[in-house]
Amino acid sequence: MLNEKQLVTDIAQQLQTLAGAAPSAFAVLGSGWKEQAESLISVEQRINLADIHHWPLPAVAGHGGELVVGQLNDSDKRVAFITGRVHAYEGYSGAELVRGVRGMIEWGAKNVLLLNAAGSLSEDMPPGSLMSLSDHINYSLPNPLAGGEFVDLVDMYHPEWRAALLKKCPDITPGIYAACIGPSYETPAEVAMLQKMGANAVGMSTIPEAIAAHAMGARVMAISMLTNLAAGIAGSRPNHQEVLDTARENSQRATETLRLALTLALG
Ligand code: HPA
Repeated sequence: MLNEKQLVTDIAQQLQTLAGAAPSAFAVLGSGWKEQAESLISVEQRINLADIHHWPLPAVAGHGGELVVGQLNDSDKRVAFITGRVHAYEGYSGAELVRGVRGMIEWGAKNVLLLNAAGSLSEDMPPGSLMSLSDHINYSLPNPLAGGEFVDLVDMYHPEWRAALLKKCPDITPGIYAACIGPSYETPAEVAMLQKMGANAVGMSTIPEAIAAHAMGARVMAISMLTNLAAGIAGSRPNHQEVLDTARENSQRATETLRLALTLALG
């Protein structure tokens, strides 16, 4: 049986065989980010994640599952999109959550853009707002480095890449993302706690991928689309349909932000 490191290497080798040289950047697309993402590229290759051995697959309906590689329009950059992240609430371990991302980085894709939907912890950031993660609070997601490294996470969300994006998009707010494992939404008491802890948004993903990518030396940026006010704020009772509806309504702006973020990726 292959160990985790060997599984990652095996994925990287499959990617090389299936799609050739690695793209310079890739994005993991969450709700709201994937609807129009393909309009940004001329597609070269479309790989079903189920056809990549050892790649953990999402179970949640509507979360898709493809790796799409192509040339970014009006640019010399090759990029890839992953539609179909796996979540800890599906029962995956920390290592499984990040196996695909590690495979992509080992393949050679060193700029990692992590996109998600999250609940807003402030009425000042209403549904539809975009937030660039300046830092995070890992409230209850597994750490993918378990069993291994002591890694510092200072400046994990790449300061220059973020600054370049914020300069181009003044309507994006920097903020701190807290993650709870889900899949139930937070209680109003948990939301009040996260506000006191200094968080600005709450979600159920991204942090393990960011830690693993940073530990491998990749450049990481993460952006949340705030799809709802978190539980209890102004009487909010989050529900999945609201998250999907807000995500869809704002997908055009998200797609433009995705284009800029990829264009600004270094290297
Ligand atoms: N909480 C956690 N995750 C989420 C939320 C939320 O309110 N909205 C979208 N993802």
